[in-house]
Amino acid sequence: MALSAADRAAVRALWRKLGSNVGVYVTEALERLFACFPATKTYFSRLDLSPGSAQVKAHGQKVADALTLAAGHLDDLPGALSALSDLHARELRVDPANFPLLGHCLLVTWARHFPGDFSPAMHASLDKFLSLVAEVLASRYR
Ligand code: HEM
Repeated sequence: MALSAADRAAVRALWRKLGSNVGVYVTEALERLFACFPATKTYFSRLDLSPGSAQVKAHGQKVADALTLAAGHLDDLPGALSALSDLHARELRVDPANFPLLGHCLLVTWARHFPGDFSPAMHASLDKFLSLVAEVLASRYR
């Protein structure tokens, strides 16, 4: 799966809208992840996962920075996310089935905050972007 020119434009347009608030939306997506798919919480036993937690906010900002890096390197996602791929596969050993769950929560969060922008075409482009990120993060499992 490759991102078309229209997909890339859609990702960049969303990122312009998100501005300096990427971390805010990723934090909401993480809160949705933990509420809707509670098994994901087992990976974060060292963090305080209660609503409004500063630790979840800090983690949300780290994930946001990684996604912003990815959005800025749409031609080379494997290169941009190489260290994170190693981390999730070899150290954290996150089951790759969890990546689409976070992708789903990110889409719900963005759709909620930007309903006017969230056309089916925009939805599809963002889903492709998040699926590619998930594919890269899951690429070092063997
Ligand atoms: C879009 C997908 C994801 C991205 C971009 C992402 C990104 C990141 C980043 C940037 C870090 C911090 C790395 C560091 O401190 O050097 C991290 C840590 C971590 N990630 Fe992910 N992640 C993703 C999905 C997931 C999922 C779905 C899970 C599990 C359900 C997960 C579990 C973890 C854990 C357990 C840590 C370590 C947290 C800690 O103890 O501080 N990640 N991730």
